[in-house]
Amino acid sequence: MSFPGNRSELPGGIRRLRFPHAAPSRSTLKLEEAWHEFVPRDQWDDRLAEGMQAADLGAAPGGWTWQLVARGMNVFAIDNGPMDKALMASGLVEHLREDGFVWQPPERLDWLVCDIVDKPSRVTAMVQRWLVQRWCREAVFNLKLPMKRRWEEVSRCLSGLEASLSEAGVRAEIRCRHLYHDREEVTVHVRLLD
Ligand SMILES: C[S@@+](CC[C@H](N)C(=O)[O-])C[C@H]1O[C@@H](n2cnc3c(N)ncnc32)[C@H](O)[C@@H]1O
Repeated sequence: MSFPGNRSELPGGIRRLRFPHAAPSRSTLKLEEAWHEFVPRDQWDDRLAEGMQAADLGAAPGGWTWQLVARGMNVFAIDNGPMDKALMASGLVEHLREDGFVWQPPERLDWLVCDIVDKPSRVTAMVQRWLVQRWCREAVFNLKLPMKRRWEEVSRCLSGLEASLSEAGVRAEIRCRHLYHDREEVTVHVRLLD
């Protein structure tokens, strides 16, 4: 039984997305689901627009980059691993074999996405640097949670991020969800407000 006004609009609360067969990995659905969750559909044409600039840290083989390219964005794909050849043939992707924790964009970008498997605190600190420097307008990143005390870990990361942004005078909206396509991880979305 569910009550009107207190239930998901989705059947069973699950956002079922069709796997795009040209995408190089199933991870692609995590970023698509994140956009459905965090960006209202009527804002996609402004906030996920053709010609925007994005960086994908930990990009290989390219499932997340595929989503950015499908929206017509230019993407810096940062990963030592190989990227999908068909995706590279789009001409919209620059593959850089660099360390995502130290790489800096050559100019301000629209989107940062990051799916690197590392300590949540390390990933959060890196994204925090991007946001404090205003290197991107919006970010989607995953916090991988193989540890036992997951809630504590996520809370520590998010409250630290919020405090640092506020200390730096950066106004931002921070949201975090455990998505249907997430496994032992959660997805965080941050949008700078000015
Ligand atoms: C879970 S996979 C990413 C999958 C990708 N999002 C997709 O949809 O196909 C994590 C990737 O992070 C990369 N990685 C790990 N440490 C990295 C680092 N310091 N800098 C850049 N990439 C890193 C790995 O090589 C791996 O390809």
